[in-house]
Amino acid sequence: MKPKVYVARPIPAEVEAYLREHAEVRKWEHERPITRDQLKEEIGDAEGLLIAGTPITEELLASAPCLKVVSNITVGYNNLQIDAFQARGVLATHTPFVLDDTVADLAFTLILAASRRVVELDHWVRDGKWQKGQEAELFGVDVHHATLGIIGLGRIGERIARRAIFGFDMKVLYHNRNRKPQVEFELGVTYASMEELLKTSDIVLLMLPLTEETRGLIGAREFDMMKRTAVFVNVARGPIVDEAALVEALQQRKIYAAGLDVFEREPIDPNHPLLQCTNVVTLPHIGSATAATRMKMAERAAYNLIHALQGSKEIDLIPELKS
Ligand code: DGY
Repeated sequence: MKPKVYVARPIPAEVEAYLREHAEVRKWEHERPITRDQLKEEIGDAEGLLIAGTPITEELLASAPCLKVVSNITVGYNNLQIDAFQARGVLATHTPFVLDDTVADLAFTLILAASRRVVELDHWVRDGKWQKGQEAELFGVDVHHATLGIIGLGRIGERIARRAIFGFDMKVLYHNRNRKPQVEFELGVTYASMEELLKTSDIVLLMLPLTEETRGLIGAREFDMMKRTAVFVNVARGPIVDEAALVEALQQRKIYAAGLDVFEREPIDPNHPLLQCTNVVTLPHIGSATAATRMKMAERAAYNLIHALQGSKEIDLIPELKS
């Protein structure tokens, strides 16, 4: 008998067809996202669950006694209450590798856009403010040969470092829980303490997971340490940053600019003071959002779900569940 799986978000038809070959599939049929209560009702007999960032807590797991695997179509998995998975022996998978270059591209998009004021100056042109003799008003800051400080040098951080070093002749500092001598040797990146990185980088970029240790990691004290010409970029998770402190740093010009793909609350309130700052470039959490990469992520998540249900170990189990 095929295992029962529930698909809680839209997926490409090819991926659904693959799931149907191997499982009895039910899915959320509506455009609006599934609510917590609806999800609880739907997964009572499911053995597998496909989601993308939906919070899965102990309470939810308790309502799904048959559940063996939750497959997340994201690389980040801060939406999962890991101790509940551990206690119940439910597996959880994510989608690393397939999105690394796409997210690294987006990180660089934000670095360039914030440093060269691309969005602000695009509006300037459209609003008819462009006149001859205004050049100094349009100045930005250089990216090439600047120092990039990456906080969180995982796979994606390494891809960003490659772009910086080989594409833009930048010096790259990194701060990480563990030092990475092999990457230092291969790429020429330099380990720095958090304080040194914050004080000396021209661009400070966050690329680390959201955990209880990293929540609120960057606040007023950290923005005060940055250069007044620093550009701050977050492509990781919003709650790693104290947003009120970021707004103050941008308003008071304690830092030069910010490029943000992620926010404390998503979608961000359109009246949020961050959106009044002209020196910030914002995006709606699209780090991995190209058609090709999102397809690969959905395929990988479906593969993980089916293979985990079949007992295979060749899956992208989240690291905390590896024995
Ligand atoms: C992820 O997969 O965790 C990314 O944040 C998606 O852009």
